[in-house]
Amino acid sequence: MDFDSNDFHSFVSSRRSTRDFLPTPVSDEIIEQIIADGLTSPSWSNTRPILVAVAKGDVKDRISKDFHSRWDAIKDARGSLFGKIKAVLKRKGLPTSNWIITRRYHKDLIERSRNQGKNFLSHIGISREDKEARDKAWARNYDFFGAPVELFLFTHKSLGKFAASDAGLFMQNLILSAHSKGLGTCPQGAVAVWEDAVRKEFDISKNYSLLCGICLGYPSENKINSFNANRPKPSEIIVPEK
Ligand SMILES: Cc1cc2nc3c(=O)[nH]c(=O)nc-3n(C[C@H](O)[C@H](O)[C@H](O)COP(=O)(O)O)c2cc1C
Repeated sequence: MDFDSNDFHSFVSSRRSTRDFLPTPVSDEIIEQIIADGLTSPSWSNTRPILVAVAKGDVKDRISKDFHSRWDAIKDARGSLFGKIKAVLKRKGLPTSNWIITRRYHKDLIERSRNQGKNFLSHIGISREDKEARDKAWARNYDFFGAPVELFLFTHKSLGKFAASDAGLFMQNLILSAHSKGLGTCPQGAVAVWEDAVRKEFDISKNYSLLCGICLGYPSENKINSFNANRPKPSEIIVPEK
């Protein structure tokens, strides 16, 4: 195959998460193509332990409304973002899933996450002290940043982290395929706490659990889409020899 690896580097490094979309619809044909490209990824014993629920139109709008009402119920609770989700879900006894994301980040990881939050808020002109503006920005997750399509990605429970690894490989191929067609995407862990809201709209086996959502659509010109998240240097993750 005639292929210049420099082209690959510039293509792959030009992808960024999109957090504001045009209402322009994405055709079913394109959705199927990018899912087919996703499926060119390697897979654990080729088991493909993943399912995708494609939400658009009324289905997407109903899920979005449901997420918003749950978010509205918890946003005024005290504490950290995920702490308050946890507190209110417990108190209200609402159905829940994926508790791992309600835990505090481990000390090994918290600095990168804090820097991400700080840099992102500063890029979109929100001060850390402005709780109302921060909550409003977060709530955009629940209308999928205006994207016409939300993909919900489920993994088979029996394979644990290997299913999650398959899903990640699939997701990245899908995201790059979308990028090659001028489409934007943003993976969304924010939607993973309310799996039951998605199950209400789709027939999904109990053997699978929700990993995350991925919003999909044509990016707008909004400044939020020009945020360049920090990318660590290879030396930051390569371990030294003993
Ligand atoms: C599994 C996963 C879940 C994510 N969840 C969210 C989310 O809920 N909301 C959001 O705005 N971004 C989310 N992101 C996007 C990351 O913040 C983003 O990928 C990271 O900051 C690097 O930026 P980049 O994608 O522009 O390179 C998620 C990314 C991944 C891989």
